[in-house]
Amino acid sequence: MTVDTETRADPGAATLPPLRVRFDAIRARTIALVDGLSAEDLVAQSMPDASPAKWHLAHTTWFFDALVLGTRGQPRVRPEWGVLLNSYYDALGAKHPRPERGLLTRPSLAEVLAYRRDVDAAMREALRGELDSARLELVELGLQHEQQHQELIVTDLLHLFSRNPLGPALRASPAPASRETPLEWIEHADEGVAEIGAGEHGFAFDNERPRHRVWLSPFALASRPVTNAEFLAFVEADDYRDPQWWLSDGFARATEENWRMPLYWRRDERGGVEQFGVAGWRALDPNAPAVHLSYYEADAYARFVGARLPTEFEWEAIAQSHPPLGGDVWEWTSSAYSPYPGFRPFAGIAAEYNGKFMSGQMVLRGGSWATPRDHIRTSYRNFFPPHARWQFSGLRLARTLGRDRA
Ligand SMILES: [Fe+2]
Repeated sequence: MTVDTETRADPGAATLPPLRVRFDAIRARTIALVDGLSAEDLVAQSMPDASPAKWHLAHTTWFFDALVLGTRGQPRVRPEWGVLLNSYYDALGAKHPRPERGLLTRPSLAEVLAYRRDVDAAMREALRGELDSARLELVELGLQHEQQHQELIVTDLLHLFSRNPLGPALRASPAPASRETPLEWIEHADEGVAEIGAGEHGFAFDNERPRHRVWLSPFALASRPVTNAEFLAFVEADDYRDPQWWLSDGFARATEENWRMPLYWRRDERGGVEQFGVAGWRALDPNAPAVHLSYYEADAYARFVGARLPTEFEWEAIAQSHPPLGGDVWEWTSSAYSPYPGFRPFAGIAAEYNGKFMSGQMVLRGGSWATPRDHIRTSYRNFFPPHARWQFSGLRLARTLGRDRA
């Protein structure tokens, strides 16, 4: 990892401000995300995969406390909280189990907010002084990590609120704003070699490197993600119950959990469909991207319309020449999350960040409306298990060119 606080490698991306300015801005944005919410909102945990917002506030702070300020990964400011706030770093010691994070009524929200202020003060002091290059890299990683958790705060609160019969809203307006956009196909008509992955300069996660070559056969990628109106046709045809479209694991999961439509959809009294979002229950927006789909649903829908999901390499090859390609919804690809040839995990204390999760998950590309804009990269590889539905995950269709099949 190399830290470059002034520029970023992604062509067309905005120039980044200095690290100290970004530190204050990113830390403040996290607090802004929970502005107006109650302590009760922030402590509850709605399912094992989700975390309470209070835990996100504390854990992102622990990252700086333990990995930047601390010694050998032990937090300096609140050493006794390490066991509560270590998420998955086995090398750093004991961890409280994720499914039980909602039981942590102590420390209180006020104590967690005070922790944030104390660590922020210590970090500002450290950033004024002499941090060595390894710690500067960990500051950058900590900021990127906090931006990842900013989206998780939204997805986890949304899931929590979805379980409340009153349907509370996180904010007044729905997201994202939608407009009708015709579907076009972006053709990649020539077969050949594509360069994939992040270059050597600028920040990227270790899983985006090294940049390497892949062979692409002719294909076409849709110009936008699948919309609610389009996905509704799959629902109305009752194709959640038609095994011909489904992977075996997906059909078993859909049957076992009685999936009939995407997560957060429900029938209204007139037979229409409502969707739960950050603005509460609303009539389904036909033009908005279909979202909260598992990989299984995305893959089944693509088969249903005679298309397929793109590989992550096809997605990135098109995105390199169409920089605004992603950003409304994460897009499932057909690529399993695995290391690029020559992959090397981050050195030292952050080695566990990405590499140890490279089994049983699929890659998503792009970014959602809840992803901070300066966190989106063409080479970014998000990943989740194929059954995950609570993220802002949708799909974009692809087709193979020059053959009689999708
Ligand atoms: Fe984390």
